[in-house]
Amino acid sequence: MAKSKRPKAKSRAAAKKPARKVVKLAARKPAKTNGNGKSNGLPKPSNKPYGQAGLALQGVRILDFTHVQSGPTCTQLLAYMGADVMKVERPGAGDITRGQLRDVPNADSLYFTMLNGTKRSITIDSKHPKGMDILNRMIKTCDVLVENFAPGALDRMGLTWEYIHKLNPRMIVASVKGFGPGPYEECKVYENVAQCAGGAASTTGFREGPPLVTGAQIGDSGTGLHLALGIVTALYQRVRTGRGQRVLAAMQDGVLNLCRVKLRDQQRLAHGPLTEYSQFSEGVPFGKAVPRAGNDSGGGQPAWLLKCKGWETDPDAYIYFITQAPVWAEICDLIGEPTWKTDPDYATPKARLPRLKSIFARIEQWTETKTKFEVMEICNKVDIPVGPILSMKEIAEDESLRKTGTVVEVDHPVRGKYLTVGNPIKLSDSPAKVERSPLLGEHTEEILSKVLGYKAAEIADIKKSGAITAPDKSKAAA
Ligand code: COA
Repeated sequence: MAKSKRPKAKSRAAAKKPARKVVKLAARKPAKTNGNGKSNGLPKPSNKPYGQAGLALQGVRILDFTHVQSGPTCTQLLAYMGADVMKVERPGAGDITRGQLRDVPNADSLYFTMLNGTKRSITIDSKHPKGMDILNRMIKTCDVLVENFAPGALDRMGLTWEYIHKLNPRMIVASVKGFGPGPYEECKVYENVAQCAGGAASTTGFREGPPLVTGAQIGDSGTGLHLALGIVTALYQRVRTGRGQRVLAAMQDGVLNLCRVKLRDQQRLAHGPLTEYSQFSEGVPFGKAVPRAGNDSGGGQPAWLLKCKGWETDPDAYIYFITQAPVWAEICDLIGEPTWKTDPDYATPKARLPRLKSIFARIEQWTETKTKFEVMEICNKVDIPVGPILSMKEIAEDESLRKTGTVVEVDHPVRGKYLTVGNPIKLSDSPAKVERSPLLGEHTEEILSKVLGYKAAEIADIKKSGAITAPDKSKAAA
């Protein structure tokens, strides 16, 4: 990591300050060093214009052993924030998603390209002795190893925590697994398994229907996000302790964390019905567990999905309408029911609860006369929170998302231009670095020579050994 500058010695002016402040300053200035001999103090604030003081994670090197979605989401975010992410892939094959759901023949799929931007790719056969030598050098050189193999796979490669920690005590080893320690810890897990086991599926969908998985990849990408937070936190702690640690984000835990409000409701059930669920206004009794709530709001402000003009032919002509209590009067005026403002059956949130179904039916009579964008415009003028259902087509074409860098077009040497999701987290001093994904092994030699210090002759030897190249099928057949 980039060295932090030592704080400057206290100036004479500071020394003259009142005693209380001096004590405070003295307490703040640790003057201690960590195991690396680096100062723990912060440097003085940069004078460089915002956005020109380097990227947030500049200097952090990542050995990226991730594949499919959860792990790659994590490392892509770290790369956007400036980390040097070196993705290790099996020679000749690479991340399995390179070839999954291909839309352009022989080009890396969008599945791969949209999850592996801004990274470098190095091919290494981890089961080849020379491949292991390269990995050893990477472990000594990198700050973080990120992996999401099936349980035990990293250990089977010989890369146990003990081994890695001995080789590089500063290394952070971060893993995504399906489950944390317990009865299912050995299981392989994909997105929807996590959605089911983390409480999302049982609480999603309509009461009359089966459990439903959501389109948002909360199990994979959601866990990748959790892992990224764990990694930067461990990097921060390492500044003080000088040592690495293990970071685990289990997909079940990540999904549950995102379903926290449903665990809230499970506990509320013990004290009575969940009055904001439309089931309550329909007089349907609650069972023992949190039911599926359709499009009910997850919070205390009743809401529902309503049809807008054109819904008969456009599957996305809907608006999400929240009857937030403070703007009830504005809602009544808009839909042409001004008497509801004072009518005791409608005037208070409590009085409205058993009537929500008919209230939303009345609001829908109004929204059906307008497009979702018209409803959006009219309602937002008077602070009524509403949300248009945007199709992926509308999102892909949305100019404002392009402007903010949330949707980015990048150019790829094989597939040409494609859209990707840029960094959803905006840092005012660290512009996102969003670049295309690497070709398989595109940076193998560059990393071997420039990062790991191999000489040209050594690289030639490694190449011959088969540790970084796919086995020659024609020779194998001969
Ligand atoms: N060189 C040589 N071998 C390599 C290699 C390389 N560069 N990279 C990976 N491998 C090997 C591993 O050593 C392992 O072999 P082993 O089982 O013989 O020890 C194998 O490739 C990878 O195995 P695995 O992770 O089991 O892949 P899989 O395709 O069978 O399973 C998952 C995929 C996603 C189900 C599984 O990895 C998993 O459960 N991961 C944790 C949870 C997770 O992240 N799920 C979400 C995915 S989006």
